Amino acid sequence: MNQKFSLPRGTADILPDTVLLWETLEKSARQILKSYGYREIRTPIYEDTGLFKRSLGSTSDVVNKQLLELAASGDDSLCLRPEGTAAVVRSYIEHSFDKKETLSKFFYIGPMFRGERPQKGRLRQFHQIGVEAIGPDSALPLLDAEVLALAMHLLNALGVKGSRLKINSLGSKEDKGHVSAWLRGEFAKQKDELCEDCQNRFERNVFRVLDCKNERCKKTVVKVLGEGKGLPLSEDSTKYFNDVKTALTDLNIPFETAPHLVRGLDYYTHTVFEITAEGLGSQDAVGAGGRYSGLVHELGGSAKTDFGAIGFAFGIERLLLASGQAACDVQPLDAFVIAMDEAYQAQAFKLLDTLRKNGISADMSFKSSSMKSQMSKADKANARFALILGEQEIKDGTVALKDMKAGTQEIVLLKDIVIKIVKKLS
Ligand code: HAM
Repeated sequence: MNQKFSLPRGTADILPDTVLLWETLEKSARQILKSYGYREIRTPIYEDTGLFKRSLGSTSDVVNKQLLELAASGDDSLCLRPEGTAAVVRSYIEHSFDKKETLSKFFYIGPMFRGERPQKGRLRQFHQIGVEAIGPDSALPLLDAEVLALAMHLLNALGVKGSRLKINSLGSKEDKGHVSAWLRGEFAKQKDELCEDCQNRFERNVFRVLDCKNERCKKTVVKVLGEGKGLPLSEDSTKYFNDVKTALTDLNIPFETAPHLVRGLDYYTHTVFEITAEGLGSQDAVGAGGRYSGLVHELGGSAKTDFGAIGFAFGIERLLLASGQAACDVQPLDAFVIAMDEAYQAQAFKLLDTLRKNGISADMSFKSSSMKSQMSKADKANARFALILGEQEIKDGTVALKDMKAGTQEIVLLKDIVIKIVKKLS
């Protein structure tokens, strides 16, 4: 019996007309990323599960609920990568980039996997464009500003409308330690005011209480931190954050300080940010990122506990939704070859081969049909020229070259056809 299969939940087929949008987006993104000195890195789509547990934190939603583990042989526990940062850091360490350069700037484009409940803008297989700047020389506010400037440059170039950049600082690793102990103490006093989720998680990851959407939790957070106030950070961390903000202002990059923004992944320190855009519905974060000084050390890459690194990732599906671009027309062809009789199909096929080998995009109908039907195929293929082989042309060693836009037609010697088309196209 025949069996029909459907897409797995939370995945999407990217069909040819939409692939063109992806290609255009990736092409302009690559150009901009390279102009900021970032180089492409491609890591496997699955890694050791421990890499993500260690990096993102066992209390993060991604590790707790969303890792898609593979049934692998042997003792290895492997999972599909839920994000790019941990994998890039793993690769950075494995290939000793710190011995080769003081600052390594990487970008990546590719699929990520999270076992989430699918909805608009939230998939189980989605794609990210991300950057990571890692190295002993990377703990500098100007680099934070560069990364943010790059993110905003990309958004503008990709036509994303209504974007808002929200930034905050979590302070250094030491600050995070002090602040979380202090917050736990404060929230313990107000435990009854917190929602059930926060009551359960404030012992394990107190920072998550800060961005809880529940109104009672929001009020409690304001009561604890003070109206409009952020986390109580050390003088050094406060200065670092102020320097980042000054650099952004100098570059005329609009931003909002969001004192309760904490992000859901454990590795963040100092600057964290989120960028929202219009038209995305409830999943309105088009991208996010931050500094993660300490992860290189955590993963065994450096003795320095504050080894610097910063990055961000955009969700490509959300970028496309936010830029509101509809699927493109059929990709245009330079030429469509038409054989007016089945007997000329072989010559037409040879001509097609010559055109393609000379860089002219071309196609033909492999099934012999009427001139009218082949012309309509040329039209549908969005071809610039139709190359017609009829009895007279075959006899004379010529081809009829029809300009599909102008409607004009001329006879060209077969041996000159490539040069003629190349000239007309240029
Ligand atoms: P993230 O906030 O988990 O951060 O994801 C970044 C972006 O990926 C989100 O803002 C969203 O656009 C997209 N995204 C995430 N999950 C989904 C999903 N299920 N469906 C569709 N899009 C999604 C990270 O992944 C960090 N690694 C970013 C980073 C890089 N931080 C430092 N360097």
